[in-house]
Amino acid sequence: MNHRRTIAASAFLIVALAAFAWQQAGWTTPPAMTHDAAGRDNCMMCHKAGAMEPVPDAPADHEGRPNEICLMCHAPDAAVQTTAPPATPHPLEGRDNCMMCHTAGAMEPVPDAPADHEGRDNQYCTLCHKPA
Ligand code: HEC
Ligand code: HEC
Ligand code: HEC
Ligand code: HEC
Repeated sequence: MNHRRTIAASAFLIVALAAFAWQQAGWTTPPAMTHDAAGRDNCMMCHKAGAMEPVPDAPADHEGRPNEICLMCHAPDAAVQTTAPPATPHPLEGRDNCMMCHTAGAMEPVPDAPADHEGRDNQYCTLCHKPA
């Protein structure tokens, strides 16, 4: 058995499975911000469609998203740059208050939201956590 080929085949399989899981969650990795954040808090001043050519336009589905949440997805070190958010396995009806259950330590054995979720508003959870 060719050892190197076995390793290559395993690596391919792992990548393929990861890509599949990624797709399955209906998730697209956001492009990383290509500039510094300092002094650029008002993201939409430049990125609102048509506002400032040739700045890349925020897509139409970004309508209504406030500047405060942009870096959750676009910061080069945002978790979503390297990790696909897990899908929500349960129905959403009657469960608007996500953090009532998912705040760390609030309700065992509900899976805890990670520490970087501190201060995230319930209305934005489903931007990342798609239905399973
Ligand atoms: C003063 C105008 C301005 C502001 C404010 C600004 N940007 Fe940008 N942004 C740009 C320009 C110009 C580019 C493209 C070239 C570059 O990287 O400088 C860009 C590029 C980007 C890209 C890369 C897009 C791609 O095609 O890959 C992202 C993502 C981005 N910005 C997000 C943000 C976020 C998030 C904020 C707020 C924290 C922000 N920007 C604030 C002007 C701005
Ligand atoms: C929940 C994650 C998320 C949040 C929050 C978010 N974005 Fe995005 N953004 C994306 C994804 C995903 C794409 C790529 C969309 C696509 O390819 O259809 C994108 C695309 C963009 C682009 C287009 C880059 C290009 O090359 O065309 C810009 C500019 C941008 N976002 C800016 C912003 C700004 C400004 C905010 C805050 C007002 C913001 N985004 C909030 C996920 C997010
Ligand atoms: C009543 C408590 C409760 C509420 C409210 C709730 N969840 Fe959950 N959530 C759970 C439990 C319990 C699980 C574990 C899996 C299961 O039982 O379905 C879970 C699992 C998850 C997971 C999967 C985590 C993993 O490890 O894969 C995600 C993502 C999630 N919920 C997101 C949300 C979002 C987004 C909301 C709000 C729209 C929400 N949840 C509201 C109780 C709740
Ligand atoms: C910007 C995208 C984004 C948003 C918005 C977001 N999450 Fe997450 N979430 C992630 C990512 C990525 C992970 C997995 C990586 C990690 O642990 O940081 C995660 C992990 C989780 C987990 C842990 C799952 C586990 O298996 O341990 C829970 C629970 C969760 N999120 C719930 C929420 C709730 C509730 C909200 C709204 C308040 C929310 N998330 C908002 C991206 C997001």
